[in-house]
Amino acid sequence: MSRYETLPSAPQAHAARADFEAAVRRGLTGRPRVIPPWFWYDAEGSRLFDAVCDTPEYYLTRVEAGILERSAPRLAATIGEGPIDVVDLGCGDGRKTAPVIAALRDGGAAVRYVPIDISGAAVDTAAAAMIARFPGLAIQGLIGEYFDGISWLSKNADRPRLVMFLGSNIGNFPMPEASAFATRLCKSLSPGDRVLIGFDLRKPGAPLIAAYNDSEGVGPRFSLNLLRRINRELGADFDLERFEARSTYDPVEGAIRMYLISLEEQSVYVRALDRRFDFEAFDPIQVGYSYKFRPREITQLAREARVDVEAMYFDDARWFCDAVWRIAPG
Ligand SMILES: C[S@@+](CC[C@H](N)C(=O)[O-])C[C@H]1O[C@@H](n2cnc3c(N)ncnc32)[C@H](O)[C@@H]1O
Repeated sequence: MSRYETLPSAPQAHAARADFEAAVRRGLTGRPRVIPPWFWYDAEGSRLFDAVCDTPEYYLTRVEAGILERSAPRLAATIGEGPIDVVDLGCGDGRKTAPVIAALRDGGAAVRYVPIDISGAAVDTAAAAMIARFPGLAIQGLIGEYFDGISWLSKNADRPRLVMFLGSNIGNFPMPEASAFATRLCKSLSPGDRVLIGFDLRKPGAPLIAAYNDSEGVGPRFSLNLLRRINRELGADFDLERFEARSTYDPVEGAIRMYLISLEEQSVYVRALDRRFDFEAFDPIQVGYSYKFRPREITQLAREARVDVEAMYFDDARWFCDAVWRIAPG
């Protein structure tokens, strides 16, 4: 059990368990079968995602880390000194946030680190890494859904905020939902607060496909872990050997799509739903998507959210962009 604040949407909470059951019921009954990506992250899912970030093919982490390392001093100079909450939304292991905290502290800011994640394991890992790097750093971990975390913060803290939403997590929403998410996020903050969002950009298909189908099979193991989670938490009998994880790239939509594909005709029982689900050979379950952006689409999101674009930081190859938006007064 984590020692950080557990919000109603945390996985151990009753409501979250009901959500998971409902999503699996809907996902396995519907055609096409789709289970949304935020159920990937139990403790093992978080560990496997960290391992994905370490594969040579998963350029996203490496490239974004480089952008943040390079731009952190400029960002810190813009923000200046004074108290600030650095909110790491969907923190994962938090490894890319450290240079920003270091630069803010070097500039004289009194930083509190606020990791928010649906996975308690992620909050624990990110918080432990920050304490190890910055002994004595103030930390407020929040375990739960993004907006549960933001609204807890609105009620319990009044410091200026830099909300970081890294790793192209925003790509987990199709474009209209990404816009709704960004707008809602910005609306829930105060004038003068900033958001820093990491966007993976459109690029040739080969590196994209390799990033999600790495040669060691870490990404596929990460996707298959969803079935293990359904087995454990909902008493299902998925045989992981009889499913294959594959990701494809759709250049029309600019989207990676992740599938678990039944390798044969089979029937799976889910005890919590008291239901059997039949699969024909090569039937897919879609378990995730990752939309890739054009720079003009990022500007468009900012326009729709009615925020000021303060900076757009790119790597040299323009494979990734970290955009900084400021919440305008009124
Ligand atoms: C793709 S990882 C990114 C991790 C890290 N920010 C990075 O850039 O490497 C997504 C993280 O967001 C968390 N997450 C996904 N959906 C969430 C939700 N709805 N509410 C809170 N956290 C969520 C996951 O548990 C996971 O740690």
